[in-house]
Amino acid sequence: MKSALAFALPGCVYLAAQQVVAQDIISEDTAFYGHSPPVYPSPNGAGVGNWKDAYAKAADFVSQLTLEEKVNLTGGFSGDNICSGNIYPIPRLNFPGLCLSDGPSGLRSTNFVSSWPAGFSVGASWNRNLTHQRGVGMAAEFKAKGVQVALGPVVGPLGRVATGGRNWEGYSNDPYLAGVLAYDTVQGMQSVGVTASTKHFIANEQETNRNPNSSNGISAVSSNIDDKTMHELYLWPFQDAVKAGTGSIMCSYNRINNSYGCANSKTQNGLLKTELGFQGFVVSDWGAQHAGVATALAGLDMVMPSASPFWGDNLTEAVNNGSVPESRVDDMATRVIASWFQFKQDTDFPPTGAGMPSNLAAPHQRVIGTNPSNKNILLQGAIEGHVLLKNANNALPLESPKLISLFGYSAKGFDRYTQGVPGWNAGSESVSPVEAAFTYTGPRSQIAPNGTLLTGGGSGANQPAYLSSSFEALSQRAYDDDTHLWWDFHFGNDSAVDQSSDACIVDVNAYATEGADRPGLRDDFTDDLILKVARQCNNTVVVFHNAGVRLVDQFIDHPNITALIFAHVPGQDSGRALVSLLYGDSNPSGKLPYSVPCNESDFGVLADASLPEGIYSKFPQSDFSEGVYIDYRDFDRQNITPRYEFGFGLSYTTFSFSNIQSSIVEGAETTAYPSGPVVEGGRADLWDNVAQVSATITNTGSVEGAEVAQLYVGIPTGPVRQLRGFEKITLSPGQSATVDFDLTRRDLSIWDTTSQEWLLQKGQYSIYVGSSSRDLPLTSSLAI
Ligand SMILES: *[C@@H]1O[C@H](CO)[C@@H](O)[C@H](O)[C@H]1NC(C)=O
Ligand SMILES: *[C@@H]1O[C@H](CO)[C@@H](O)[C@H](O)[C@H]1NC(C)=O
Ligand SMILES: *[C@@H]1O[C@H](CO)[C@@H](O)[C@H](O)[C@H]1NC(C)=O
Ligand SMILES: *[C@@H]1O[C@H](CO)[C@@H](O)[C@H](O)[C@H]1NC(C)=O
Ligand SMILES: *[C@@H]1O[C@H](CO)[C@@H](O)[C@H](O)[C@H]1NC(C)=O
Ligand SMILES: *[C@@H]1O[C@H](CO)[C@@H](O)[C@H](O)[C@H]1NC(C)=O
Ligand SMILES: *[C@@H]1O[C@H](CO)[C@@H](O)[C@H](O)[C@H]1NC(C)=O
Ligand SMILES: *[C@@H]1O[C@H](CO)[C@@H](O)[C@H](O)[C@H]1NC(C)=O
Ligand SMILES: *[C@@H]1O[C@H](CO)[C@@H](O)[C@H](O)[C@H]1NC(C)=O
Ligand SMILES: *[C@@H]1O[C@H](CO)[C@@H](O)[C@H](O)[C@H]1NC(C)=O
Ligand SMILES: *[C@@H]1O[C@H](CO)[C@@H](O)[C@H](O)[C@H]1NC(C)=O
Repeated sequence: MKSALAFALPGCVYLAAQQVVAQDIISEDTAFYGHSPPVYPSPNGAGVGNWKDAYAKAADFVSQLTLEEKVNLTGGFSGDNICSGNIYPIPRLNFPGLCLSDGPSGLRSTNFVSSWPAGFSVGASWNRNLTHQRGVGMAAEFKAKGVQVALGPVVGPLGRVATGGRNWEGYSNDPYLAGVLAYDTVQGMQSVGVTASTKHFIANEQETNRNPNSSNGISAVSSNIDDKTMHELYLWPFQDAVKAGTGSIMCSYNRINNSYGCANSKTQNGLLKTELGFQGFVVSDWGAQHAGVATALAGLDMVMPSASPFWGDNLTEAVNNGSVPESRVDDMATRVIASWFQFKQDTDFPPTGAGMPSNLAAPHQRVIGTNPSNKNILLQGAIEGHVLLKNANNALPLESPKLISLFGYSAKGFDRYTQGVPGWNAGSESVSPVEAAFTYTGPRSQIAPNGTLLTGGGSGANQPAYLSSSFEALSQRAYDDDTHLWWDFHFGNDSAVDQSSDACIVDVNAYATEGADRPGLRDDFTDDLILKVARQCNNTVVVFHNAGVRLVDQFIDHPNITALIFAHVPGQDSGRALVSLLYGDSNPSGKLPYSVPCNESDFGVLADASLPEGIYSKFPQSDFSEGVYIDYRDFDRQNITPRYEFGFGLSYTTFSFSNIQSSIVEGAETTAYPSGPVVEGGRADLWDNVAQVSATITNTGSVEGAEVAQLYVGIPTGPVRQLRGFEKITLSPGQSATVDFDLTRRDLSIWDTTSQEWLLQKGQYSIYVGSSSRDLPLTSSLAI
């Protein structure tokens, strides 16, 4: 690796003394973690806002039920279908039961559905409109298949830990970006009548020790978070999802301050149902319930996949013996039934589980979920999820290449027959076809070596209707353009690059899956492969299909590596999207929804499996002592220069920013605290627009392209700057447009732990507008 290191260092600056002591960063209320404060009783859903009619109908419905029937609505059973979970029907009241199924990027484990770009790709698109349309298209497939409740979107994990196995299921480790995209997704999905179950609530930031382990007696990890960090980071995107009207929230496997996610009264009764005014139902993650009476009182409304052993008859008994008030069970049932009415599933829904037969190999009625009108959304979503990070000598787009050489294990399709068939019957242990191709029996690998990475592994994996790999799409393009294509997916030490190649494309990946954190952020095998090609090819284009942050410093400064693309996890149109970008049919417009640092050690925290000593040795603790300082908030604070900063991404054109204006909205209320009633999402006036900023963006290059104008705010006493607005705008060469950003009271506030309210401080707020978190040509300020 000597040659690699020679290129590794120049671009990155290492500063001494990067370790900052925790006490430096956060207020004294983090000094002690131990327990979660009790918040009882569990608030009843009241039918606020546009839930009024649904609650009136649900109250009438539930009043006709026996206690046993109400309890039947709270616990899952395993039906004769492949729904991830089922709720029993009540035929005498025409309630058909419910089918709940994975996952956040498309319906898993069945046929006639699509592999949508995963959350990470949606995050990289920074495109609200497209995100909404994806939500609509994806949910329509769930609906056609008779799935009332879709288990997604994901905003937890947020992405505190770069090695996290599930970060790719969500959008970004920035709470503002994640929150906006969750809002658009929930609204899109629910507009077609499917209930979104936003997950995993809350602080499910690592897979390591996520569940208790019965063979060694080690409990689930406790995420210990102070109140301010909880509000400003981890709760933030859930707040947007609740504001969007999410019909369900899924509680998580981990503990929070040592109390299990589904038994935590502070998070469920307090934060979610009191402070955020959540009207839907809380469903447990599969197997995340560890107590009966305690979870009922702490605000859990539905347990999956089975009522046993804690609820079912035992919940009925707990009501009869006075441990759980019947009003709590009424509230559970009301919340479940209100969601069913809210999304008109009582009048306009296919039979429950209609397209989810238990055995796809047996004859059955075909239920088609896919819709041709989704084609553009699938492709455009895949395209905009790509981020162009390096483009030396305008290597891209390719200009009428005569010979392209393609390398790398992520370029070709995978064998769905040998690697996929066992997954059709999705039980708890089995896996979907795509997942199977990426499921390792040996030690966890950094890479998926046997085919293109269109989705990550686990319950967030999805089902392609077809697969466009880089190889197949390039072959098609070669046919259309009379290009010669050479390929070698097993490039070795003795392999040679055809010196007539106009470009060499190396398509590799960084794999991640539910159930395990990634072993690292780079792997020698892949870095070595890239360098082997680069040593023989002076126009080497590196493409990473990456389900997580991937470090690139081992190779990126090699003079023959002219371009780098992070393709993320694009779904079934992967290759088609890549080729469209490589040839300039589309102009890259994705931006990183996270930072890529130079080295692992730049991260303050990676997955933490350390155990305390002594009597608590079986209770792993993860102290979130860095507070809100993750990713760019941390790099800014410590002056760490990342390799590629949050919000960065190149285009084939250039943009300029000018004419910033900022002002307080006339007549805006700028009192310290909001005082409005709690509606879905919190106090109503938290969402009032307090300030506005505008700027002019001009396309100064020679081709049409889209820029993401980003607004960052330096809030007094907060991080140097935080994302608080963005808009993607398409401009032709020479064209200018004005972008307007609205700043709400929440956008400018900090969480005040004493008053337990969002506080709008008096002071100067720095305003920055530009094309990334470190390229901010426009500055201004606001006085409040
Ligand atoms: C966790 O403990 C911290 C420190 O005592 C406290 O600030 C915070 O509100 C607690 N959060 C939860 C959900 O228990
Ligand atoms: C729960 O639902 C199942 C399936 O409809 C039914 O067999 C059972 O009797 C129900 N239990 C009660 C207590 O109503
Ligand atoms: C957003 O998408 C809709 C189609 O759903 C389209 O009519 C509208 O023009 C799009 N808006 C922007 C700004 O792209
Ligand atoms: C549970 O503990 C056993 C015994 O130490 C270990 O082999 C296994 O890997 C653990 N399982 C998980 C999921 O960590
Ligand atoms: C009730 O709890 C007991 C003791 O945990 C358990 O054996 C039983 O299976 C439970 N009943 C149901 C219906 O889950
Ligand atoms: C009431 O019933 C529940 C469920 O079986 C049980 O866990 C609890 O211990 C019982 N409480 C009393 C006071 O008997
Ligand atoms: C990849 O394919 C090889 C050869 O068929 C097989 O031995 C290996 O287990 C596969 N690896 C994965 C992760 O599927
Ligand atoms: C190929 O070269 C690398 C060093 O670049 C070496 O580590 C590896 O063992 C070699 N592989 C084979 C199959 O010779
Ligand atoms: C770059 O590629 C050319 C072949 O095109 C090769 O001769 C040269 O040695 C390579 N440069 C490096 C630094 O590996
Ligand atoms: C790259 O290599 C090709 C063929 O080996 C050569 O024709 C071309 O001039 C080289 N380009 C550069 C920029 O060195
Ligand atoms: C990069 O990070 C690794 C792992 O934390 C560390 O061992 C190494 O010293 C770091 N390298 C540099 C140049 O800081």
